[in-house]
Amino acid sequence: MSALLKPEAATTERSLLRVLTCGSVDDGKSTLIGRLLYDTHSVPDDQIVTLEKDSKKFGTTGADMDFALLVDGLEAEREQGITIDVAYRFMGTKARKFIIADTPGHEQYTRNMVTGASGAELAILLVDARKGIQVQTRRHAFICALLGIKHIVLAVNKIDLMAYSQSVFETIKSEFSAFSQKFGFTDMAAIPLSARYGDNVASRSAHMPWYQGPTLLAHLEQVDAAQDLLAAPFRLAVQWVNRPNLDFRGFSGTVASGVVRPGDKVTVAGSGAAAQVAKLITYDGEPAEAIAGDAITLVLDREIDASRGDVFADPTDLPEVSEQFVADLVWMSDVPMLPGRSYVFRVGTRMVSGTISKLKYKTDVNSFEQLASNNLALNEIGTANISLSAPVAFDPYNNNRRTGAFIIIDRVSHATLAAGMIRHGLRRATNVHRQVLTVDHAARVAQKGHKPGILWFTGLSGSGKSTIANILEAKLHARGAHTYMLDGDNIRHGLNRDLGFTDVDRVENIRRVAEVAKLFADAGLIVLVSFISPFRAERQLARELAGDAAFFEVFVDTPIDICRQRDPKGLYKKADAGQIANFTGISSPYEAPEAPAFHLQTAQASSEDSAQRILDGLSDLFAGELS
Ligand code: ADX
Repeated sequence: MSALLKPEAATTERSLLRVLTCGSVDDGKSTLIGRLLYDTHSVPDDQIVTLEKDSKKFGTTGADMDFALLVDGLEAEREQGITIDVAYRFMGTKARKFIIADTPGHEQYTRNMVTGASGAELAILLVDARKGIQVQTRRHAFICALLGIKHIVLAVNKIDLMAYSQSVFETIKSEFSAFSQKFGFTDMAAIPLSARYGDNVASRSAHMPWYQGPTLLAHLEQVDAAQDLLAAPFRLAVQWVNRPNLDFRGFSGTVASGVVRPGDKVTVAGSGAAAQVAKLITYDGEPAEAIAGDAITLVLDREIDASRGDVFADPTDLPEVSEQFVADLVWMSDVPMLPGRSYVFRVGTRMVSGTISKLKYKTDVNSFEQLASNNLALNEIGTANISLSAPVAFDPYNNNRRTGAFIIIDRVSHATLAAGMIRHGLRRATNVHRQVLTVDHAARVAQKGHKPGILWFTGLSGSGKSTIANILEAKLHARGAHTYMLDGDNIRHGLNRDLGFTDVDRVENIRRVAEVAKLFADAGLIVLVSFISPFRAERQLARELAGDAAFFEVFVDTPIDICRQRDPKGLYKKADAGQIANFTGISSPYEAPEAPAFHLQTAQASSEDSAQRILDGLSDLFAGELS
């Protein structure tokens, strides 16, 4: 892409380098960043004065300035001597600007490192010359490779403490080269330096005449990393369709990769709708081209169908479109991953629900060993098959870090659970299409004479769900309503008899029953579902599957001690004696509803009253239809 680049774009993308620093305080990471900031005059004068004072008070470097103090900003961190979160530092030279992500090095902070690494083009892996390559160095190199960082600097620090020895440096360098070969780094520069004294950081060291390469800063100034995304084919994910009036329609978003100019042909990935770019619009006017990183509005030469989430692409080099793919995942939440659980996936600007259908393996980040597992915990990394409810456009992450990345979001808390990198698409499992039915939902509902709905009873075993649901169903039936009851114990004798009580099995248990409830509601019935259904995420899924049918969550809230006293099936006795594993409320969690439609406190009301309360509530909704 030897494009004539517009000047602003050239400055934003070409002269900015995003750098990730990996290593621990012990390796001198904070000192190195502090030294870089100091030597490039990126620190205001008043901070330098404070630094001189603080170096005497907190410093670990005797009479010299302790550059780490410039960086370890928080008091608590200073006192403990550790860095705990991701911090971004800004630094500039005549040649370019830098954003330096400073992330903690320990394994329990892998997710922080992943956050800092997203968008970074270059990583500095810091090694203490006295210790050489550590397990941590290998882990950091692995994570950098996983996140697609292609440019690596192996900074061999504290070389002053090894008498500026060339052989120490060469040994470390060749050890790193050997194990990192498989990681596909396109450029690796090893630099011997002393962050404390500044050797080979911004100025050449007089102590190491044997080293012919550039200083760290000179290297950072000349690395050509922006090319990676510019050279990739054009992609733009539509953020919104800009339609201020009937005469104008534009597609707004950020160019994910490549270059686009008026006159270029573009295609909507998936639908294949094609058009030519009539003009580009930005805040500043109508540029002759836009490149990766630019926020623009595309105006096309004809009306085509595209909306938020769609991806415009170069028609000669289209992305893959699939609803199934293999991806690497970094789990970033305290809530562990569950195969089969429905999550929200954000790929580009598209949000789509889906599941991790199968975890193929998890990878030990220290030994790179692949281990069999069916879940991932915080900071763990694995490779999985992903199955979405609708196709998405993507490129393999290895080819395009913007369009190959996604995040997984919890449907209830909306927290980010994981970062994902797509390896490759999987062919659709089947060629099954939908059949149009002559007797449709509306016809079925009309025949019943009342609206369909789902009453979802949740609560502990023995809380009284089935008892209340039974009474309610009898009342509805007596009023002529068409009902059906799906009861956990019964369904577990048939449809779900292959499932037990592990978290994974419960997720599948509820997924199936939620699908069945949806079918019965589609048939026009009022469905009563009585399952412990202990997890919020699956109850939320059931609600979403219900679609247009009314969905009422009924929380049968009975304290566990009362359930234990009642113990209608003698299960609490067994569970307390350790004879039943994963028993809800004892050895398996119950997540109470946060905003149920009906909250029944059975310690205070009889089952009859509770059922009547729901019926009264429903009569308001199904006014006249149920009497
Ligand atoms: S759910 O958690 O997956 O929704 P479900 O409602 O289908 O559970 O089944 C719960 C019923 O299974 C309980 O009412 C009880 O009779 C029985 N049961 C057997 N083992 C367990 C267990 N470990 N935890 C909870 N219920 C159990």
